[in-house]
Amino acid sequence: MTPVNKVLVILGTRPEAVKLAPVVHELRRRPGRFRTVVCATAQHRRMLDEFLDLFDISPDHDLDIMKPGQSLAEVTTRALAGLDRVVREERPDDLLVQGDTTTAFCGALAGFYHKVRVGHVEAGLRTADKSAPYPEEINRRLITPLADLHFAPTETARKALLAEGVPADSIHVTGNTVIDALHWMRRKLRTHPPRLPAGLAEAMRRKRVVLVTGHRRESFGEGFRNICEAILETAEAFADVLFVYPVHLNPNVRGPVYALLGRHPRVKLIEPLPYAPFISLMSRATLLLTDSGGVQEEGPSLGKPVLVMRETTERPEGVAAGNARLVGTTRQKIIENLADLLQNSSRLEAMASARNPYGDGRAAKRIVEILGREAS
Ligand code: UD1
Ligand code: UDP
Repeated sequence: MTPVNKVLVILGTRPEAVKLAPVVHELRRRPGRFRTVVCATAQHRRMLDEFLDLFDISPDHDLDIMKPGQSLAEVTTRALAGLDRVVREERPDDLLVQGDTTTAFCGALAGFYHKVRVGHVEAGLRTADKSAPYPEEINRRLITPLADLHFAPTETARKALLAEGVPADSIHVTGNTVIDALHWMRRKLRTHPPRLPAGLAEAMRRKRVVLVTGHRRESFGEGFRNICEAILETAEAFADVLFVYPVHLNPNVRGPVYALLGRHPRVKLIEPLPYAPFISLMSRATLLLTDSGGVQEEGPSLGKPVLVMRETTERPEGVAAGNARLVGTTRQKIIENLADLLQNSSRLEAMASARNPYGDGRAAKRIVEILGREAS
């Protein structure tokens, strides 16, 4: 009889919930093969809970570590202490982490300390700049030597791992699980139209929509001031454009964004959205202005051009395919790129029709097959 493998899935933030939900669902589909245990550090609270509810995941452990305005060291120490206890109690055969958050790094470290096999979902993304994204570039790099199985979403990521000496037989190119989640969400949206915040549908009528998200630590301060000024100036220049901006709950983001953008009639600031209305809004948008990793990956699948407000990206595939442009966080460059696409429908169209380079919606299935095959 094939033994049942106990898999401990660790997550803590909004994007980890989106990207690990398809893996949890796939594991649960094979109860004779896997026993799935989910641990939420709850590095995010509100922004995590509504996603776990949507994906029907009730964590077996909830470390509840979020504090308002928490420092990186606080997140790290509290997550590691809690995860150490959970791994000791659960004694899993496999431990899965995703991406580049502090939760993911601490999860991999706790697994390593307890000699548990660690699988890294979305391995191998690199910018080659340790300060961008900060601290995520270093989190993701530190996970690599701790992990035993590297689930690289793309060929570029596989090559980056090989160049660092990671054994070829431990790397598996699977596609990104965010595309699995997106396909699932789009199917659900066909029969369950989401509820948008009050007044938003009315505000968007007869307007082109630019959907904005931003939360990167390396942009706090001057970067966010530049971004806000660029949005204001563009809103002034294009009377038929509405900027819709679901503002991240981080106080370092909310402070400047509400202070600078709170009063313009063509800039609509709203609370972070649950996944269904957010994807629906992305589908409605003319273009996306973002520093998010996940949005860079989802945009191309929805045929939406992405302006990436970062100096460098660990997701170069979108730029190479023509879906995305790197526009940095200086005021002038953001304004120029917004104006270029808002005035030039053929360039907008070319970006919208470029091929999605991030996956085919079957990544979770591949990951779980590999876990089963490689089981001890
Ligand atoms: C974290 C991740 C980042 C990821 C992002 C996704 C790290 C270091 N950063 O960044 O990689 O891209 O999540 O959004 O792991 N807050 C709330 N409620 C919530 C969530 C956040 O109030 O539900 C506020 C709190 O004041 C919290 C602050 O946001 O202290 C920052 O949260 P934190 O998880 O430390 O960092 P993020 O910037 O969200
Ligand atoms: N997202 C969402 N509502 C929002 C903003 C983002 O559902 O108001 C989703 C988005 O579709 C993507 C994920 O959250 O799947 C990205 O999260 P975030 O930008 O916080 O993190 P990153 O991907 O940059 O790590």
